[in-house]
Parts: sequence; C-alpha cells; structure tokens
Amino acid sequence: MNANPSSDPPSAADDLEALASRVDRAIEALNSLEPAARERAIAAREAIEAFHKAGLTTIVRRLKADPRGKELLFELVDDPGVCALLAMHGIIRTQPPAAPGPPLELVQIQMPGDSSGWHPGPRADEVTDEKPLAFEAGGAKILLLRAKGEIRAFRNACAHVGLPLERGMIDVEASVITCPWHGFRYAADTGECLSAPQCQLEPFPIRVVGGVVEVKPS
Ligand code: FES
Repeated sequence: MNANPSSDPPSAADDLEALASRVDRAIEALNSLEPAARERAIAAREAIEAFHKAGLTTIVRRLKADPRGKELLFELVDDPGVCALLAMHGIIRTQPPAAPGPPLELVQIQMPGDSSGWHPGPRADEVTDEKPLAFEAGGAKILLLRAKGEIRAFRNACAHVGLPLERGMIDVEASVITCPWHGFRYAADTGECLSAPQCQLEPFPIRVVGGVVEVKPS
C-alpha cells in the first residue's frame, strides 16, 4: 500500500535533478576539506569513475557488437540519465565539436579601455585560482578562471548540456575544473574537455586594463 497516496510518484526528470543536486552538494562539501583531504577525496572519486568507465565501456562495446543490442543502446541513450552517465565518461558524444573559438589573449594595458567590443568585468585580483568567477557582459554569461597564473575567459556553459560552471570545483594543482552537475572535467587554461575530448569550453578574448578584466564576447 502506498504510504503517501496523495503525492505523485517522482518522474525520471525529478529523480535526475535530485541526483544532480546530490552530486552538487557532495562536490560542495569537498571544497570545504583541507587540501590533503580534498586531494584524497578527488583521487578516490577518480578511481571509482575509472572503475565505472571500464565497466560501462565493456557494456556499450558488447551492445554495439550485436544488432539487437545496438538498437537497445540507442533507446537507452534517449534516457537523460543514461545519456549523462555515458557522456560524462566520454563514451558517447552529446553534441558536435565546438567550432574553435578566437585565440586567448591576455595583455596588460595601462590606458583606459577602447570601445570596440571590450566589456569590463571584475578586478583582476578578484580572480583567484581556487574559485571560478562569473559575470555577464555584452549579453553573454562569462566564466573567469585563473590558471597557471593567467586569467582565462570562457562562455559560462558546460559543453555537456550547457549548465553554468561557476560552482565547479577546481583542482589547482592539476589546473582542472569539474562541472558541478555531472562531472565533466576541463583544463582550466585551455577549456579542453578531459571527459569528452571532442568537447570544449568556448573561449573569449580577454585583457587586463588598469587592473580590471575586460572580455570581448563574440
Ligand atoms: S557535466 Fe552536465 S552540465 Fe556539466
């Protein structure tokens, strides 16, 4: 008998949202750990992910090798949870490769900024290597990262399903940011996706004028 007859059963989307929130909270909790404990937690998570990836890869390979299995696999990939899981491990591709963006540019200029599409953001010293910083300019949502001593700007949209990355966890030593939603990992200096190598964060040109970050969204 249903213990709570008045409530509707949760939908698959609700379940997925709840699971994504749970991942979000767990990653948030990792951020509050001491560096050594955080490193161990990240190493444990990576080991578990590698274990899962090996098993999933075997399953997908076997399904693809059989015509009926292949059909079933295509049906399964329509499920958002399965799709997210396989994409997170780089086993399937969720979108075509992003077109290469404009080259990154970091310059120090003491003169006031020009008006040719550059938009001012936060002060450069507000951008730390431990925390992403998000702001909006020129109609674009922008994510700033400091990686290997330099500030980088990307569109604040994960290449997986486009969710924002400002709550992502940064592994400073490895210079990697992990998406808080489903765990896609990116090189913080280039935006290259390490989870699905065909994906990439979209970079924007960036410069620092009088200590203020300026970005030129395309
Ligand atoms: S990994 Fe899914 S939105 Fe980033």
